[in-house]
Amino acid sequence: MSDERRPGRRAVLGAAALGATAGVLGAGAAPAAAAPAPGRGRGRGLPVPAVVAHRGASGYRPEHTFGAYQFALDMGADVIEQDLVPTRDGHLVCRHENDISGTTDVADRPEFADRRTTKTVDGVRYTGWFTEDFTLAELRTLRATERIPRQRQQNTVYDGRWPVPTFEEVVTWARREGARRGRPVWLHAETKHPTYFRKLGLGLEEPLARILRKHGLHRAGSPVFLQSFEPSSMRRLAKLVDTPRVVLLSSASSRPWDFVESGDPRTVADLITPKGLRWIAGFAQGIGPTLDLVIPRDSEGRLTRPTALVRDAHQRGLVLHPYTMRNENSFLPADFRRGSDPNAYGDVFGAYRAYFETGIDGIFTDNPDTALLAAEDFRRSHG
Ligand code: G3P
Ligand code: CA
Repeated sequence: MSDERRPGRRAVLGAAALGATAGVLGAGAAPAAAAPAPGRGRGRGLPVPAVVAHRGASGYRPEHTFGAYQFALDMGADVIEQDLVPTRDGHLVCRHENDISGTTDVADRPEFADRRTTKTVDGVRYTGWFTEDFTLAELRTLRATERIPRQRQQNTVYDGRWPVPTFEEVVTWARREGARRGRPVWLHAETKHPTYFRKLGLGLEEPLARILRKHGLHRAGSPVFLQSFEPSSMRRLAKLVDTPRVVLLSSASSRPWDFVESGDPRTVADLITPKGLRWIAGFAQGIGPTLDLVIPRDSEGRLTRPTALVRDAHQRGLVLHPYTMRNENSFLPADFRRGSDPNAYGDVFGAYRAYFETGIDGIFTDNPDTALLAAEDFRRSHG
């Protein structure tokens, strides 16, 4: 977005509910009044905006591997994300979804050929191999591979190097790395398809809470965010642990799958109204909206004006961790693409600036190194 098209604004760093209370102006939004902050203090110690390494440093290593997590941490990422799905014997492992066809070498393993099957997950049919059909011991024989090899060919050199991590291994790693660095390593753990798995007798929240309790991460001040696209998963977790919770929000017209199953007619558009946000603030400390809910794109994919979501969420004490920034042209808003190669990097610093100026508290990114520089630039320019 050009400076000409960006209306005058001011940013108040540290204003979000993560660390303090105040308003941050979005260009399309009215000035926010000083807000009550039920989430005040959550995430204390994290910079604003915080950089959340999306599935690790997944722009540079196959996602959800210790290669990706360690690289993200070594770059200086503030928070490392895990997506959680269960094995047949109830262990939580880190995969973006239960279909592991595209992120492991399972298709090349003759011993598992007969596990290939077709399933309907959250209303969508998939054919492949699924974590819930493997014991942890079986799953551990697999090796992770790059999800988007055509776009990220350079990541394929790491195919086969790392196994699928368990969440408990990640917690142990984070504690070890935190002790070594003298500061906590923050995690951001998402329950994937929780209603689907509960119906299979593989509820995610109880084992997750058990691991958090076992490692002393069940407190309001613990360096972990929990997240889900299904609000009922966060509500269930709220009864089990005090660890901060974030409700993920997809496009405005979409409906969380637990709402579909329970007959709740609300869509995301309803959840981002002041009434919807007040409801969320009753059991969560933050929201994770898709970036388009923060700054919508026009029909050509260019950024338009920010919505009032940042202001409205902050007024209810909710932090905002939108998703997902990636350096490649194909993922950027049209006004920040450079050249015609979809896999080349665009004006990613310009895009970060536009999003950070809305007052968001953090951002998910596949490229933590770029985001960290952008966040540093932003803080310096608003110092
Ligand atoms: O959890 C935040 C972001 O990762 C949500 O999208 O589909 O990448 O898990 P997804
Ligand atoms: Ca996620």
